[in-house]
Amino acid sequence: MSAVPTIDKRTAAQAPAWVKHEKLKQWVAEIAAVTQPDRVEWCDGSQEEYDRLCAQMVDAGTLQKLNPEKRPGSYLAWSDPSDVARVEDRTYICSANEADAGPTNNWCDPAEMRTTLSDLFTGCMRGRTLYVIPFSMGPLGSPIAHIGVELSDSPYVVVNMRLMTRMGKKVYDVLGTDGEFVPCVHSVGKPLEDGQKDVAWPCNDIKYIVHYPETREIWSFGSGYGGNALLGKKCFALRIASTMGREEGWLAEHMLILGVTSPEGRKMHVAAAFPSACGKTNFAMLVPPAALPGWKVTTIGDDIAWIKPGADGRLYAINPEAGYFGVAPGTSEKTNYNCMASLRQNVLFTNVALTDDGDIWWEGMGPAPAHLTDWQGRSWTPEIGRETGRKAAHPNARFTVSAEQNPALDPEWDNPQGVAIDAFIFGGRRSTTVPLVTEARNWVEGVYMAATMGSETTAAATGQQGVVRRDPFAMLPFCGYNMSDYFTHWLELGKRLEAGGFKLPHIFCVNWFRTDENGKFIWPGFGDNMRVLKWMLERIDGNAEGEEHLFGVTPRYTDISWDGLNFSQAQFDQITGIDADSWKQELALHRELFQTLQQGLPPALTQVKKQLGEKVTLQG
Ligand code: GTP
Ligand code: SPV
Ligand code: MN
Repeated sequence: MSAVPTIDKRTAAQAPAWVKHEKLKQWVAEIAAVTQPDRVEWCDGSQEEYDRLCAQMVDAGTLQKLNPEKRPGSYLAWSDPSDVARVEDRTYICSANEADAGPTNNWCDPAEMRTTLSDLFTGCMRGRTLYVIPFSMGPLGSPIAHIGVELSDSPYVVVNMRLMTRMGKKVYDVLGTDGEFVPCVHSVGKPLEDGQKDVAWPCNDIKYIVHYPETREIWSFGSGYGGNALLGKKCFALRIASTMGREEGWLAEHMLILGVTSPEGRKMHVAAAFPSACGKTNFAMLVPPAALPGWKVTTIGDDIAWIKPGADGRLYAINPEAGYFGVAPGTSEKTNYNCMASLRQNVLFTNVALTDDGDIWWEGMGPAPAHLTDWQGRSWTPEIGRETGRKAAHPNARFTVSAEQNPALDPEWDNPQGVAIDAFIFGGRRSTTVPLVTEARNWVEGVYMAATMGSETTAAATGQQGVVRRDPFAMLPFCGYNMSDYFTHWLELGKRLEAGGFKLPHIFCVNWFRTDENGKFIWPGFGDNMRVLKWMLERIDGNAEGEEHLFGVTPRYTDISWDGLNFSQAQFDQITGIDADSWKQELALHRELFQTLQQGLPPALTQVKKQLGEKVTLQG
């Protein structure tokens, strides 16, 4: 094994001529000295590099190349069964003061965490290559974009980052000799001793996903999967960026961004926050029903929005990402045609099933083939599935694909200025209680709706599934600071814009997921969500009616277009009904949330809750 000082010198010297940033080179040398990789590779983001790393991972057994006739340029990865989702209980916000992380984040004293991580990272890349991955979140050189550099010992991370971000050599042109970047260090945490054979998906039972908000650093150990390892995504673009936004007066949100054009050619932009695996990708790529001709939905982003007030008092949003890391199960030509069309070639699939002819399959894609190899490499048939309940694809199986492949990509998606937002939508997965759609009467009520949002948990995070938990703004796992301060930040932004005489975006809350007595979804959802979207846009233009209920304005049956859909008034009542008893229970949960968040909770929200409580009592 090479002595530490040798590696140190070699790394700095090895940097290619196009890296002119001394501090960056020094940092890479320091991390290499600690983690002791065999090699350092400075990624340039080229196709050649991508192809070479994929081929190398095929040799290592990490990837399988899919049948080029069925799925050209595409690969399948099966992760270790212990490494299939974000690990929220291993995710830390290490601010100097515990109160700044707030009661909803795991906190640890930064000095203590640095000691823990220093032990874990020492020698953790032995036998591996350290890849230097420069990336831009947002269009290169855009005033809204920010740069990060991830050091990772995972080639799977490199190829995913190339699809998910603007990654490569050109980032160094923006960085120059002394530009700012967010340093991100990632290791799968599985050093190889001399001659030790690697496994297909290296990872470690010990996992840490750590953020230091004050110094804007990210350290991730032990996982190679998704948001744990692709550090530009949740770690940077949400947790670190939300703290930057708080300081600088902007927002980093777990939101899709879509453009919607009416038959008359009027275009609006909507940003919508749904918790993980609750329909953002689907909504962002929505195909309107044929019975509503002339409506068109185009995608700007499917997961994250950075939103800044413009000089004209409107809120402008960009998608900091350049690709989609989307949930595969439940996606089909019928439910999301544009998504399936995006997945025809050049895709990285993770934890889906393999067909006998070298293609992929997952639950909800269509009829199951007679035989498959499941995501754990075991033989699978529909009978086995029925008898054992074993899924062929992991419920959190995902695809990684460049946004450029989306046929519904909005022409403005790459605009460095962003698009002006006309409405915010918040929605959780609720089988009861919450009606199809409600419009807030004002900004404060909208913030209250978003703050008290609940959702049934999904496979996107490890932990119990299907339990209702509060997920304020769909940001519970992603807010990099105290949640109450985050509410204040939203309220103050609204106040500031209103004081300037500007019109704020409308705020709506939706629920596609009410079920009947057999547990079946009542609302058809997917493309038919266009009907709800249409009502919202007409409300914004002052062209649609609605009626007030307990906590906002809702459409009546006759306010929605039903062309081409058999959906009765009785069914509509089932998904819009407000049951006083359920709302009493719901309010008790709001109270519980507010108790947890009482430190710094804005009084304006407590006020809304009080009024709501009074109305529920009157109704019940
Ligand atoms: P993350 O990428 O985890 O942040 O989540 P996402 O919000 O982008 O999730 P996605 O859109 O991929 O949601 C996937 C799941 O939601 C699949 O199981 C879909 O079948 C389901 N889904 C999406 N839209 C609808 C809908 O309108 N109705 C119903 N019932 N299910 C939906
Ligand atoms: C989510 O869980 O909200 C995701 C997937 O978008 S991951 O990038 O793994 O966090
Ligand atoms: Mn997400």
